[in-house]
Amino acid sequence: MARAKARFRCVECGYQAPKPLGRCPSCGAWGSFSEEAAAVTTGASATPAKTMRLSAVDASELPRFPSGSEEVDRVLGGGFVPGAALLIGGEPGVGKSTLLLQLADRALRSGRGVIYVAGEESPQQVKLRARRLGVSGDLELMRETRLEPLLGGLADRRPDLVVVDSIQTIESEGVPGSLVAVRTATQALVRWAKASGGTLVLVGHVTKEGTVAGPKVIEHVVDATLYLETAGLYRVLRSTKNRFGAVGEVGVFRMTNEGLEDVRNPSEAFLAERPEGEPGSVVGLALYGERTIALEVQALVSRSPYAVPKRVVQGLDARRVDVILAVLERRLGLKLGHLDVYVNLAGGLRVNDPGLDLAVALAVYSAVMGRPISEKLAAVGEVGLTGELRSVISLEGRLREARRAGFERLLGPPTLTNLDQAVREATI
Ligand code: TYD
Ligand code: MG
Repeated sequence: MARAKARFRCVECGYQAPKPLGRCPSCGAWGSFSEEAAAVTTGASATPAKTMRLSAVDASELPRFPSGSEEVDRVLGGGFVPGAALLIGGEPGVGKSTLLLQLADRALRSGRGVIYVAGEESPQQVKLRARRLGVSGDLELMRETRLEPLLGGLADRRPDLVVVDSIQTIESEGVPGSLVAVRTATQALVRWAKASGGTLVLVGHVTKEGTVAGPKVIEHVVDATLYLETAGLYRVLRSTKNRFGAVGEVGVFRMTNEGLEDVRNPSEAFLAERPEGEPGSVVGLALYGERTIALEVQALVSRSPYAVPKRVVQGLDARRVDVILAVLERRLGLKLGHLDVYVNLAGGLRVNDPGLDLAVALAVYSAVMGRPISEKLAAVGEVGLTGELRSVISLEGRLREARRAGFERLLGPPTLTNLDQAVREATI
């Protein structure tokens, strides 16, 4: 029998120490040490673990049930998975509780057992919101923040769906909301989900730095992590981890008086307020998660009072825009040296897709020349350093979306091969 030695490891960064430390000397996390499985033995005394052939693994479609929102289903990869745990993070006020109350209601109405654990708000507050959302009065609330009684209640009621709003309010070991408490509660709840086959949704607060408190602690335990964010008038749900579907898929919602509503046709929504016949406005086709969205790129230029003119970019990668400005100057002779340049992706989304390069270039060109770009065309293509236009992924899908959104022409490669041609074709 080998010697068993206790060892402690920081759950944030993996730093090891012979005893638990109050603060990790490596990453600075507080109370983050957890004891490792101590004994390292020869294994001679244990029951030998079995193996199975890959071919014997049942990988037929996962059983899922619809969340009641097509946009949420899209992000999840097809709906809630029984026995799975997911985490929804987002800033206070973004609409996490609203969305989950709506989903809880829809699951209930489709005949599932649902429990909403209200740790953040009083039952009265939840009821006020629920009334606005038209949530069924049959929804069961649990006002319990202590882990043990909470688990007891779940064992008793055996719900199909449990929403814990929020994981930071659950009291287990240590101070509620602390790393240790969040980790312990999450692990116990995830074990409940796996054992019972119920679906667990945890709400997690996002700190100022934009991560769910104790991120690594929770994220490696849950099956999927989703973030709800604000994008102008809209709310966007995206996955950063998903064991049951594609990562990076995006759902779009609108906040109304009756809660969050699916935006079925984001292109239409994001182009709704597009000005007509104005210089500096060009529609590009961007990849956004698995879908393509038509988005308006806007540019504005004004004479700069500064020695070094300003470059202000919103919703796009500022460095890519700088490169495009340099290409416009050097290859097309566009004089930008004395101009402040503002480039904005209208609608509040943030997109990092080289396929939008051409739309950016045309928007700036149009703004500088004071000549509008035809409203009937959309642009797609990456701009190279010599002013060449490069093809981008999913050209077919972008073309389809452009047609669907009512554009007569999609400007870009392979028909056009350089920026020079593109500006000539596009300006009215
Ligand atoms: P909430 O779901 O409480 O956010 P979170 O749980 O992420 O902190 O949403 C709060 C905001 O949403 C609040 O400012 C009011 C607004 N809201 C609506 O606009 N319409 C609605 O139907 C509801 C319920 C909330
Ligand atoms: Mg809330």
